[in-house]
Amino acid sequence: MSQEIFDKAQGKLAEINDYKVDNSEQLEQFRIAYLGSKNTLKPMFGEMRNIANERKKEYGQLMNTLKQTAQSRFDALKDALENKAAENVDVPDLSLPVNADDLGSRHPIALVRNQIIEIFNRLGFVISEGPEIEDDWHNFTALNFPPHHPARDMQDTFFITDDISLRTHTSSVQVRVMEHEKPPIRTISPGRVYRNETISARAHCQFHQVEGLYVDENVSFADLKQTLYYFAQEMFGANTRIQFRPSYFPFTEISAEMDISCFVCGGDGCSICKHTGWVEILGCGMVDPNVLENCGIDSEKYTGFAFGMGVERIAMLKYRISDIRPFFENDIRFLKQFASVTD
Ligand code: DAH
Repeated sequence: MSQEIFDKAQGKLAEINDYKVDNSEQLEQFRIAYLGSKNTLKPMFGEMRNIANERKKEYGQLMNTLKQTAQSRFDALKDALENKAAENVDVPDLSLPVNADDLGSRHPIALVRNQIIEIFNRLGFVISEGPEIEDDWHNFTALNFPPHHPARDMQDTFFITDDISLRTHTSSVQVRVMEHEKPPIRTISPGRVYRNETISARAHCQFHQVEGLYVDENVSFADLKQTLYYFAQEMFGANTRIQFRPSYFPFTEISAEMDISCFVCGGDGCSICKHTGWVEILGCGMVDPNVLENCGIDSEKYTGFAFGMGVERIAMLKYRISDIRPFFENDIRFLKQFASVTD
């Protein structure tokens, strides 16, 4: 009687050792059969009482081996299955051509801003940046906008407190640079600005500007003209001509607005230039001595010029975009059109 039970247990051991699985369902069947709460080994433990006393110890050891073997076989089968799954994972074929449709592209504002920066870099202008949340001193007062001066109304401001607002122009960075650096200063300040404007095709409450500043001994309006002429030709083509119209900004004296000859019709007149042959492109002027003094620069010794341009405006002209709003909507159909521009 005992031997029969032993043989059965030995058979079970062989069965476990030979067990093979091909998938996780079969592994689960193994677990239920040999390790589950109603496993087939359990009744065999019950056979202990039918074993002759002198062989009980031997049978106990065999049953232990059986139990441990079931567990280690399960672990081994599980490992093997997992390794097999890992090997079967699809390895990407690196030799396949890239799906260019999914490539991102630079935002047109970034493209134009980078072009502007790159041109002025060549002339020795270095980038400086300032905060978008600005105090009254840097956005207005130091730039010669006295309190209650009507010129403040030129720029509709988002106020945070009486003293703090979102900057209305990047001219605020001029002040920060002049406060911290000694001439010669040659700097260009790209950045986002904010105005409390109703959003329309022509205006937005946020946009981007690039500010330029050059301060040194003997800087003249001729230097300003030559610098901006170089910029206009690099940006819009070698045949571009420029003209200046007198203007007013509190922080420059004299002040001007610069037009470029229309790069679409060459000056003959078209819808882009509203049939004038000229397109307004930026504001500029000689830094007002008051501004230099406000920033701790000796206005007897130094002079400077400054200019400021809207990046959206230039992008709209360059890429013939008639509405400013798409720049801020992140519509992929709009942005994708600039994918081929590599600058
Ligand atoms: N800050 C002016 C604006 O936002 C633009 C500007 C005009 C900047 C003349 C200048 C400048 O530096 O000289 O409208």
